[in-house]
Amino acid sequence: MPYYILGIESSCDDTAAAVIADDVILSNVAANQEIHSSFGGVVPELASRAHQQNIIPVIHAALQKANIGKNQLSAVAYTRGPGLLGSLLVGASFSKAFAMGLSIPLIEVNHLQAHIMAHFIRNVEKTGTMPSFPFLCLTVSGGHTQLVIVKDHFDMHIIGQTIDDAAGETFDKAAKIMGLPYPGGPFIDKLAREGNPERFSFSKPNVPLLDFSFSGLKTSFLYFLRDRLKEDPRFIENNKADLCASIQKTIVDILISKLDKAAAQTGIRDIAIAGGVSANSGLRSGLENLSQQKSWNLYIPPLAYTTDNAAMIAITGYFKFLKKEFGSQADTPYARSSF
Ligand code: KG4
Ligand code: ZN
Repeated sequence: MPYYILGIESSCDDTAAAVIADDVILSNVAANQEIHSSFGGVVPELASRAHQQNIIPVIHAALQKANIGKNQLSAVAYTRGPGLLGSLLVGASFSKAFAMGLSIPLIEVNHLQAHIMAHFIRNVEKTGTMPSFPFLCLTVSGGHTQLVIVKDHFDMHIIGQTIDDAAGETFDKAAKIMGLPYPGGPFIDKLAREGNPERFSFSKPNVPLLDFSFSGLKTSFLYFLRDRLKEDPRFIENNKADLCASIQKTIVDILISKLDKAAAQTGIRDIAIAGGVSANSGLRSGLENLSQQKSWNLYIPPLAYTTDNAAMIAITGYFKFLKKEFGSQADTPYARSSF
């Protein structure tokens, strides 16, 4: 009999639940919170209220889809942090009560570790390859941009990270400046497909070592548009695809060049990407090209496991369950952390 683990993710604005049978996902359900798009970003108080409304139906749907009764569960795994505290509290409180009610172990999961652990989810056919240790992972999300050496499922070392904005945040802010909805990353990605990435160029940071910086790029994009709009108020509308393609290319180039540098410095040739921005088609194809040149073994997660999801929490829960790394009712959520 496999171990069935329920994963619960509520760190930001998506309420998500997934059921895993050992390392195979049986269901992966999420309720998105449309309410934030009119505010151009996530409103924490509204997010936690929406989690409260969504959590029970989402978990119910995940169990039903997996065709699993709650009494068959071996453990409950939940995101403890980092994230929005009010949002995390909803998932944590539900998980604690559920695990206590069922008398099964409670497992706390670090959201950033979980993004990386998504690479260890197996498909039903159990085909496909997984990165071998040690591998290098570029984790790129709305809140984080990190280069991580993964030595083991739970032995991860950050060797570079952003000193200001995250890559996803940069996509979202650029989108906001152009009047696109929140979160803007996927909109830029879509529009960029029809645009010329060489049309406009923006300043790239010069940050030492393996760290990243995106705040200068954001400002240069803002000032560039402000100047052009003075000459032509319809500048954004008339050039949207080229603007999206050009800003996307700049962000992707920054990410890829640091990843390349990290691979050269560490000598690691198993390379992975994780997090919401790893859904970006420019990043995916840019890395596919580079990995052919460099003979890397490249691991790109399926789209369903890039942006926030509970499958990644469930797989991390599974590996912790095997190690009997259980949490306690006294564990409290945390807003910030490395690992
Ligand atoms: O990992 P994630 O879902 O949440 C955090 O942990 O932050 O990442 C969300 C970020 C957002 O900034 C969103 O705009 C970005 O991922 N994103 C993308 C794409 N899909 C999601 N950015 C660029 N291209 C995409 N296709
Ligand atoms: Zn995330």
